[in-house]
Amino acid sequence: MSEARFVVNEQAALLTLFTGSSEYPLSPIWLREFSNAPEYLDARTQQRLFATHTIDPDLEFSRLTPVEQGVDVEFSDGYRQVFELQPLINAIDPDVGCPPKQTFTGELKTFDADGDDADMLEFFLTYGFAVIRNVGTDTDSMERYLARKQLEIRTTNFGRLFEVRTEVEANDLAYTSVAIGPHTDNPYRDPVPTIQCLHCLKNEAEGGESTLMDSMEAIRIIQREQPEYAELLLNTPVRFWFTDVDAELSEWRTIFERNQFGEIAIINYSPRLDFAYPLPPEQYRRFHQARQYLNDLLNSDQLELRFKLQPGELMIFDNRRMLHGRTEFDPASGARHLRGCYVDIDAMRSAYRISQRNRY
Ligand SMILES: [Fe+2]
Repeated sequence: MSEARFVVNEQAALLTLFTGSSEYPLSPIWLREFSNAPEYLDARTQQRLFATHTIDPDLEFSRLTPVEQGVDVEFSDGYRQVFELQPLINAIDPDVGCPPKQTFTGELKTFDADGDDADMLEFFLTYGFAVIRNVGTDTDSMERYLARKQLEIRTTNFGRLFEVRTEVEANDLAYTSVAIGPHTDNPYRDPVPTIQCLHCLKNEAEGGESTLMDSMEAIRIIQREQPEYAELLLNTPVRFWFTDVDAELSEWRTIFERNQFGEIAIINYSPRLDFAYPLPPEQYRRFHQARQYLNDLLNSDQLELRFKLQPGELMIFDNRRMLHGRTEFDPASGARHLRGCYVDIDAMRSAYRISQRNRY
């Protein structure tokens, strides 16, 4: 990877930004949006004191001069500023200041509840999950931990907190002892909860292991091996539907979703709650084959991460990226009790960026 730099063509008044991996020919209008003179930028909030639409669409570079700190730019409206490289690179970072995502392989590691948050946050944002130990085994231990981390619990139709243990009149399969295959939670909600937290209070029953699968890896494999399936999963509307005495939640989504850069980066998968659009028979057969292929992949050893949560451990995962499930357990062999809730991923990303500010 080459080094980040500006390339200036003074004669042609062209400015190009190389980030090290990509090349961006810069528009004078785009660069003018980064004006930092006191009349253009509030120093405390870093918010603009002008609206971007007020910039003249005919704006040009009048003069470009490479200088030690970056490039000295004079615009055709008379404004002049030295632009440095790093703030512009930060502004176009596709990971918005978070670590690039990777698929986890290797031995599971856990993070101490009182340990360095920056390490846990980095792991979570990279791999899409984290297991935190020593959270405590009191029923409110998870709430106290999340409150300490300033993570607000989001209430859903399952309440503020939900108990995952065998119930006599269960309103969801999670509350029975059967195996639960890979799925994402609540795709029938808008917005879909972004982080699920599962706190282990008791896990004495035989079986009942937790499973996690990274959709990022599944998507990569499908795009490489069966690109037609990737398109079908991306383009076929699926209605996810949850109904209960006091809830009627239903949303059309697609199983794969693109991010703002056009990459497939989000998955909605809940094969007991999905009702796809009635494509013509042959097309529907292909769509069905695509979801079977996806399901086989998600259930393969290649993708499955399997571990047994211990009392006092808290598992958190990105519900728009990681699929989760659990193996069957025998309720007669001992108690199993997990307590769950949802929190928002933007708060985790913010906490990570702050941890990086304070780290050095
Ligand atoms: Fe679930």
